[in-house]
Amino acid sequence: MSIMLGVDVGTSGTKVLAVDTRGEVVASALEEYPLQSPKPNWFEQHPEDWRQGVLTALQSIAGALGARAKEVAAVGLTGQMHGSVFLDKDNKVLRPAILWCDQRTAKQCDDITEKVGERKLIEMVCNPALTGFTAPKILWLRDNEPEVYDKVAKVLLPKDYIRYQLTGEFATDVADASGTLLFDVQKRTWHKELMGILDIPTDWMPPAYEGPDVTGKLSNAAAEQTGLPAGIPVVAGGGDQAAGGVGCGIVKPGVISSTIGTSGVIFAFAEQVKLDPEGRVHTFCHAVPGKWHVMGVVLSAGGSLQWFRDKLCPAERGVAEATGSDPYVYIDAAAEKAPVGAEGLTFLPYLTGERTPHKDPYAKGAFIGLSLRHTRAHMARAVLEGVAFALRDSLDIIRGMGVPTDQVRASGGGAKSAIWRQIQADVNNAPLHTLNVDQGPAYGAALLASVATGEFKSIEQACDAAVRPVDTCEPNAGRAKEYDTWFAEYQEAYKVLAPGFHRVAGHL
Ligand code: XUL
Repeated sequence: MSIMLGVDVGTSGTKVLAVDTRGEVVASALEEYPLQSPKPNWFEQHPEDWRQGVLTALQSIAGALGARAKEVAAVGLTGQMHGSVFLDKDNKVLRPAILWCDQRTAKQCDDITEKVGERKLIEMVCNPALTGFTAPKILWLRDNEPEVYDKVAKVLLPKDYIRYQLTGEFATDVADASGTLLFDVQKRTWHKELMGILDIPTDWMPPAYEGPDVTGKLSNAAAEQTGLPAGIPVVAGGGDQAAGGVGCGIVKPGVISSTIGTSGVIFAFAEQVKLDPEGRVHTFCHAVPGKWHVMGVVLSAGGSLQWFRDKLCPAERGVAEATGSDPYVYIDAAAEKAPVGAEGLTFLPYLTGERTPHKDPYAKGAFIGLSLRHTRAHMARAVLEGVAFALRDSLDIIRGMGVPTDQVRASGGGAKSAIWRQIQADVNNAPLHTLNVDQGPAYGAALLASVATGEFKSIEQACDAAVRPVDTCEPNAGRAKEYDTWFAEYQEAYKVLAPGFHRVAGHL
């Protein structure tokens, strides 16, 4: 039986899954690497760390598969989106990659918006200029490191640097390319006119393929380094959100996912291009050929709870360490003790600024409404609720765009928490389904590879065979009504605080 590999070049590490033709995960490997933050709100990684991480993870997979390593038939790539790898004319990396979560490019975003016009930009590339996207990073380099900029000959997205290392080919996929702000999302090709306006040479960007297209073969050198068969196809794959969408079966109208990892994403399938005229959600090509997706991105979703755990829950961490258990279990148990709405305590999860709906790199986190009555249990509940409210902001925008959202599927680390699933179902007033498999983008990349080898005729068929809902969390009408009130307060809180966030940013 053939085996497909899905390789996810993530921010905390690279995850590789080996998936057989029944959709079963037969081996997995994870290699972590560091994240550098040379200044507040700047985030970088060394492409060399990714390369070593991927090679080590692939070696581990080959080792775990043993004699079955020769059954590996194809590799699908996915990874963190938007990051910029700058290469010189000899294909050498010029500086650390600037990542999706980096917020240094506010000025370049303003410059692009001023030059092109916000409406026009959304018309051209379906999205507004946001600090995380790739084009403003290229302009930042031009403005701030001209001596490096002068040497640039190619700009690659993170997983595409790995593709180059594995196959010697330069290529990307249409979903990942959509997050550069230089891609004509409607026509699924680079937007030469916009690149001209921004003075970015078109030959810097690699050719863009549909998700299951083959972009090259595993080189002899990479095969030798990893123990995998030389010459197996490496498929285009997708940015981590599109591949994650495939991994959750979000490949037909009406099925959407709510993923809580470090970030939080509401991801909806779209048969045609659907736009929010205000650009609050992203409209990108899907990894399903000829289809699109719409998504709202909450930058600190699981990241907010992780912050709460690390900074405010030493007791829970202590117990978990002593008993070999997970601190989140104790934080969830505390949150269970607080009532719906945490007795008027509201949490804004904008710890790293916010994309949807505010497009505001200066937004900040906040607990609002603290009183002597409030305990850490209330704060834990407020964090879970605040993240669910942030996701509802995205869901409401997508619903308002006329994109069908009949079935919401939970995914990511946050989907493991029963109380968080219930809060989401109540806040959205919609059932939340859990899946038989929740392995994230690497799983979707492996499914894309299985289409490339002809194992399945289409991505839809691959998903039908491998992914199905197994459990449902139903909303409670009474709680949903209460949450409508607290959600309105949550939305109001940002409006009131935003001018202050911007003033404070000016003092720092
Ligand atoms: C999507 C996004 C993140 C990164 C990191 O727009 O910024 O999902 O891809 O995983």
